[in-house]
Parts: sequence; structure tokens; C-alpha cells
Amino acid sequence: MADQDGQKIAKNYEVGVAFASQGSFYVKGANNLDWGMKKHLSNIFDPKSGNTVMFAFDHGYFMGSTAGLERLDLVIPKLMPGVDCLMGTRGALRTCVPAENRKAIALRVSSGSSMLNEDLSHEIISVDVEDAIRMNADCMAVQTFIGADGQLSSIDNLSRTINAGLRYSIPTLGVVAVGKNMERTDRFFKLATRIVSEMGCQIIKTYFCDNFEQIVAACPVPIVVAGGKKLPESEALTLAYRSMQGGARGLDMGRNIFQSEHSAQMVQAIRKIVHEGFTDKEAWQFFQEAIQ
Ligand code: 5RP
Repeated sequence: MADQDGQKIAKNYEVGVAFASQGSFYVKGANNLDWGMKKHLSNIFDPKSGNTVMFAFDHGYFMGSTAGLERLDLVIPKLMPGVDCLMGTRGALRTCVPAENRKAIALRVSSGSSMLNEDLSHEIISVDVEDAIRMNADCMAVQTFIGADGQLSSIDNLSRTINAGLRYSIPTLGVVAVGKNMERTDRFFKLATRIVSEMGCQIIKTYFCDNFEQIVAACPVPIVVAGGKKLPESEALTLAYRSMQGGARGLDMGRNIFQSEHSAQMVQAIRKIVHEGFTDKEAWQFFQEAIQ
């Protein structure tokens, strides 16, 4: 049993040294996976840039109707053209997203809390792998609460989803959640991101923080960055740029897209950063011109 005695602080992240186990497949950590897993991952991550623009609209699973998402049926089709991957609940997808869309699907499969709870860390697996197969999901998203009261059950949810995903070749997206009392520091995210990746998921979603490049270096699978609360568009674009510069393989923004007055143009500006190497300043200029 590993013990905590004599713990030394990790510091040799070799940031900038390429992932040594990349092999011939372009998605980090996926070289030894089977064809089906790779196919799903290539639906999510563009083979040219290696990156993805995910649009997250799964907030309703615990927040109810969120500002900007009051009408899923109107918002999602409007923003779909600019994104690579749709992250939503099965309820939102089946009712409000045309099945004939050509987007990758990140299916939210965990749930169990609501905004009425003080502690959001107690979830269940609410969508079984059979329904993920029916929906042709390209990955299954599970919230994981490291350091929270629900840590063990959330790791159990994640592990059971990964096990089912390996049986049916569907990747798992481990969502590193930040509980109310957690610090959004690199110390926390290094711990949480590494634990979640070692559970065996194929993609991780987490938040940007200081020393983000070290978190990326220590994580053997691709990281996409959640946007978090709504920021002014210029700041959200800087967040996107800094995330990509730090080694993220994409953004999974929600509120910074659907709460923007110019959400469609915001998606396009994020796309410029993720797939065309724009800086935040170039993307901001693009955005300002696009909204004229
Ligand atoms: C909600 C989620 C969201 O998918 C994730 O936080 C991205 O959305 P936002 O950019 O609005 O934070 O996991 O629980």
C-alpha cells in the first residue's frame, strides 16, 4: 500500500519534451487502443490540427435552465456549424439536436445533484453504455470529484464507465470537477488530473490554471479546457489561447459561448485559436470584425 511518508514534491515535468509513447496515432495516449476507440477519438479531435472545439450545453443536468440555454432547441442548432463536438445530456440531444448532424458527441452520463445541494459531489451513472451505443456517442463524460465527500463514488462511476467503454470501444471523458471548497490551483489540478487519467479515461476535461503546462506534461491523455464562468469575450479568448499554448488539445466551453451576445462569432473566434493558430489578439480582432 503506498504510504504518504517521505513524499517528495514532483518537479521534473520535462515540459516541452514530446510525449515519448505517442506512436503512430495522433491522439495522446491512444496508440495502443483499438480501431473503434481511435475512430471515436478522430471524430472528436481534428486529424489535421489534433485539436477540438467542444460546445458544452450539459449544464441543465444540475443547474436547470441556465441563462443562455433557456431554449436548447434554438441555441444548439445555431451554434452547431462552428463546433467539432457537442457535449450534452441524452435528454437535450434526443429532443433538440437533429440526428442528421455530423458532429462528434460527448454524452454526459453521470448526474445526481442539483443546485439545491450544498455538496454536488454525489453522483451516479445515469446513462448506461447501451444507451451511449444507441446514441453513437464518441465519448462518455463522467464528473469526478477529487478531494470531495463524493470522491470514492465518483471514481467508482468513472471506473465503471471506463470498463464499459473498453468493452464497447467508446472513450471516456473524465471531467475534473472543482467542488465548492476546492482550490483552483495547479497543486489541486495536478493531483486530480493525474488520478483521473490513471483511472484509464481517454480524454480529460479540466480548468486552466498556473503551471498548466506541467499538468499537461504529467497527463498521458489529451486535456480539453472548460471555460468556467462567463468572462468578457476578450478574456475568454485569452483563456483559450493560453490553454492551447499550454498544451491543451481543445476547449470545451459553455457559458463563454452561450452567454455571449455574439455566440456564433465567439465560436468562430475560438475556432481560429484552436485550429488555425491565431493568438488571442488576432482572434479578438477577428471577433470584433465579425460582429460589425
Ligand atoms: C457542467 C460542465 C460543463 O460541461 C463544463 O463546465 C463546461 O462548461 P463551462 O465552460 O460553462 O464551464 O461540466 O457541469
